[in-house]
Amino acid sequence: AIDITTLRSSTGYITFDPGYVSTGSCQSDITFLDGEKGILLYRGIPIEQLAEKSNFIETAFLLIYGHLPNRSELDYFQYHITHHSMVHESIKKLYDGFPNNPHPMAVCSAVVGALATFYQDQFNNQTAREIEITIHRLLAKLPTIAAYSYKKSLGQPFLYPQNHLSYTKNFLNMMFATPCEPYEVNPVAAKALDVLLMLHADHEQNCSTSTVRLVGSSRCNLYSSVSAGIYALWGPLHGGANQAVVEMLQKIQDEGGDAKKFVEKAKKPNEEGSSRLFGFGHRVYKNFDPRSKIIKQMAHEVLDKLKVQEPLLDIALQLEEIALKDDYFISKKLYPNVDFYSGIIYKALRIPVNMFPVMFAIGRLPGWIAHWVELQGDKDFRIGRPRQIYQGKTSHDYVPLEQRG
Ligand code: ACO
Repeated sequence: AIDITTLRSSTGYITFDPGYVSTGSCQSDITFLDGEKGILLYRGIPIEQLAEKSNFIETAFLLIYGHLPNRSELDYFQYHITHHSMVHESIKKLYDGFPNNPHPMAVCSAVVGALATFYQDQFNNQTAREIEITIHRLLAKLPTIAAYSYKKSLGQPFLYPQNHLSYTKNFLNMMFATPCEPYEVNPVAAKALDVLLMLHADHEQNCSTSTVRLVGSSRCNLYSSVSAGIYALWGPLHGGANQAVVEMLQKIQDEGGDAKKFVEKAKKPNEEGSSRLFGFGHRVYKNFDPRSKIIKQMAHEVLDKLKVQEPLLDIALQLEEIALKDDYFISKKLYPNVDFYSGIIYKALRIPVNMFPVMFAIGRLPGWIAHWVELQGDKDFRIGRPRQIYQGKTSHDYVPLEQRG
């Protein structure tokens, strides 16, 4: 048998920190958050200022390159992101192999992973220029890949990106136009989507970003690292929460709209039929998530401007009011997070519910890229390799099949 005692003493002490609650995995200059005060800064700039004054492309540049771009840097970045938005024609054939209605997160991750098969010449010792092209390609192609996954679910033909449109207008056009019918993208919808993407663009060492860093720490290429990040984001405790919120609100509405009853159930996690209050709680924020404040305000404005009546917003407002006065949520410091109101806006933009996590992925992409790039240049670079505290058997002989009970 392996001598566990020796193994332990030869490697020294191991910190046991389930969920990495108190473990700093890296040093980073990208995003700062103060969970007690509800502060979020991208490269030092408050999220509130960016939401009001910037746009998604500029914010992506800021996160990746560390400073706000000057005019020529922005034009260059914008130009390349626009001009890399088509995908290889062979990529379209991948979609034929998927069943009729797969979850679009699965499709996006698979197709982003497959990009690595198209650009594999660039993997070893990538130059700064090659990494730059990879960044442009990913930012440019993910909206196309995402819109194609929606078109696939409808059985409609894919639409090519339109280079004269902005990033979000182009995405909405690829989603909702058809070859028979042009689609006039509402500027209110395009602007709302742009702000939502910006608010999601980075959030330091969340599950998906840590995944991208961990995969990238094996010096794995950016496409594959991002593909893994998309899968990590998919779960309902992370980026899938925006879908889970709207499904939860819908369920409450279908069952008669009793928000109080749902909150009571959410307080009893061990009872049958209980569900967490999705869109509430956060590992770091023990006060209001600053993004949720902006999104809540936006939800009212967008619904108003688009003249959308959304009963789910009323249910969300009731849930929030009840939960914020409830001792359970107060004592556990559970507040609305970024996902609580975002789904209501996506719904008003006619984005289908199963595409909500995909919208999150498009938004989070600059953050993933920024962290992958930062890691590759890190002076403390080491492959990520957590330890474990082994609790299993240490002396157990092999039993031949015929002697087993
Ligand atoms: N509803 C009801 N109870 C909750 C909720 C919730 N939304 N969130 C946490 N709790 C309770 C837990 O049951 C736990 O109670 P206990 O101490 O009695 O066991 C306590 O609050 C602490 O919760 P943990 O799960 O230990 O907190 P953790 O930091 O590990 O998880 C998380 C944070 C995953 C966000 C959690 O709050 C959650 O599941 N929220 C709902 C899903 C969600 O909205 N996810 C999106 C997060 S933001 C993002 O990824 C974009």
